[in-house]
Amino acid sequence: MSEEIFSKVHGVLAEINAAAPSNESELEQFRIKYLGSKNTLKPLFGEIRNIAPERKGEYGQLVNSLKQAAEAKFNVLKSTLSNKADAQESEGLDLTAPGLSRRLGARHPISATQDKIISIFGRMGFAVAEDREIEDDWHNFTAMNTPEDHPARDMQDTFYLRDYPKRLLRTHTSSVQSRTMKANKPPIRIIAPGRVYRNETISARAHCQFHQVEGLYIDKKVSFADMKQTLLFFAKEMYGPDSKIRLRPSYFPFTEPSAEMDVSCFICDAKGCSVCKYTGWVEILGCGMVDPEVLKNCDIDPESYTGFAFGMGIERQAMMRYKINDIRLLFENDVRFLKQFQSVH
Ligand code: DAH
Repeated sequence: MSEEIFSKVHGVLAEINAAAPSNESELEQFRIKYLGSKNTLKPLFGEIRNIAPERKGEYGQLVNSLKQAAEAKFNVLKSTLSNKADAQESEGLDLTAPGLSRRLGARHPISATQDKIISIFGRMGFAVAEDREIEDDWHNFTAMNTPEDHPARDMQDTFYLRDYPKRLLRTHTSSVQSRTMKANKPPIRIIAPGRVYRNETISARAHCQFHQVEGLYIDKKVSFADMKQTLLFFAKEMYGPDSKIRLRPSYFPFTEPSAEMDVSCFICDAKGCSVCKYTGWVEILGCGMVDPEVLKNCDIDPESYTGFAFGMGIERQAMMRYKINDIRLLFENDVRFLKQFQSVH
């Protein structure tokens, strides 16, 4: 009986020594068979009961050597196999392949145009003022000399919030004028960029959301000539040193006198093209001397202070600069459109 068991154990030892797992899964099978929780060596350990007492020591050593042989083989094979895998991996590496390039973001044409406007006025000492898009009726209309029954309210179709007529989406950045004048004493010299909303039918030329930049300058003895010179400087910086401006009389409730400013067409050098509708001029902004009523509404004494204000849309200027023919492209965030502006500064 003992002899049989001894030769069985020798057989298993030979089996272990001969095993040659050549990949990860064969090695795993080897581990389960000889070292796992239900390994085939366990019953051999149990056989020790049936061994004659004088041979128990010999038998114990023999079965232990099985376990050691299995462990040693497993450890050696494990490290050779993982070295082999590493080597295979690096064999597949193509060190001459081009690197992965990072995709560059692009500035949105609206931001690029807005930043340029801000920087030009910044050089003339105008500080950026930003304020809320959800406004109250008073700051957007009443303070700006547009009381409730004023026909000029129809000029801007307004989105009201549910608590109508209390809150609304500002229809122009002129609301930042009243906010700033209420909170600060003159001299005031600010530029206010931001989003505005009007209930317009969306088309290639109009959108219900767009951007404006507002300007406001209040101090002692600010004149219409100051405004004209400031805006001429802006036009030359924005559209080239040969640009000319013209002011046409207009009407806004918050300015008196009011004007609209055209700049000589920079697309055709004022020779006439479809952008300027063959007039040589492109309308850029509305402006004027701040109405004394507006100053009063905002607690500034119109006897001591005067000022000028202006407001311009950004979309149309961006569309002209980058030859974009549909305003909706500016709000769709289609990357095929946006990535064309990667080199825009
Ligand atoms: N708020 C006017 C608009 O949205 C633009 C404007 C005109 C702003 C004249 C002004 C201004 O500050 O003086 O149509």
